[in-house]
Amino acid sequence: MKILIHPTSEGAVKAAALQIADLLAARPEAVLGLATGGTMEPVYAALIDLVAEGQCRGDRFTSFNLDEYVGLSADHPQSYHHYMRRHLFDALGVPAAQTHLPAGDAPDLAAEAQRYEARIAAAGGIDLQLLGIGANGHIGFNEPSSSLASRTRVKTLTRSTVEANRRFFAEGEAVPVHALTMGIGTVMDARHILLLATGAGKARAVAGMAEGPVSAACPASILQMHPSVVLVCDRAAAADL
Ligand code: GLP
Repeated sequence: MKILIHPTSEGAVKAAALQIADLLAARPEAVLGLATGGTMEPVYAALIDLVAEGQCRGDRFTSFNLDEYVGLSADHPQSYHHYMRRHLFDALGVPAAQTHLPAGDAPDLAAEAQRYEARIAAAGGIDLQLLGIGANGHIGFNEPSSSLASRTRVKTLTRSTVEANRRFFAEGEAVPVHALTMGIGTVMDARHILLLATGAGKARAVAGMAEGPVSAACPASILQMHPSVVLVCDRAAAADL
């Protein structure tokens, strides 16, 4: 695992965006695995700027997102479908047929999970998987105790993750407690992985991921077994390394 520590979160974000842009400059039709969450918002803004500056194309890639809340339609303002359109896809003008997220409102979620895995395989697998990390070490929505070999499936969110997500929902609005997420085995199949962590709230998870024992108690720790991982973080997130 290559670990890059930047003094500021802005530096870490820019470094992550540049890695994506470098791949797209070399291979505009690359298959990207994309993530959501507050950490990724400035990354996507920086990537949009890099595309506008002509560093790479931003309309030829194919993408697969990690996860989606169960029960939210693609048009729900807090759905990850909506997040991706708002923060990346609309600005880049990437054709909708090239972007994929699991359908959290599918009538048969197990069938949807299988379809999602099949679509990733049909695209030739993921070239670069972008990851954030939950404060409890989750990746995607693979919460602690997730099978390290898991594939796309429904997961129940922990109380702490539901509470962390509450900030994105209106006061009094129900926060989803289930998600359809790529499994840890799905993530591990990506050819390259780029994990970005910023802020002191991620320090413990980052240390567990990079230096802790490989254990389902910290799902991100399995990344120690992946041959091509770059961890980009700011000084605050690296504090416990
Ligand atoms: C959610 C997402 C993860 C993300 C995590 C951290 O759980 N499913 O992909 O890494 O939030 O989010 P944030 O960047 O807002 O801290």
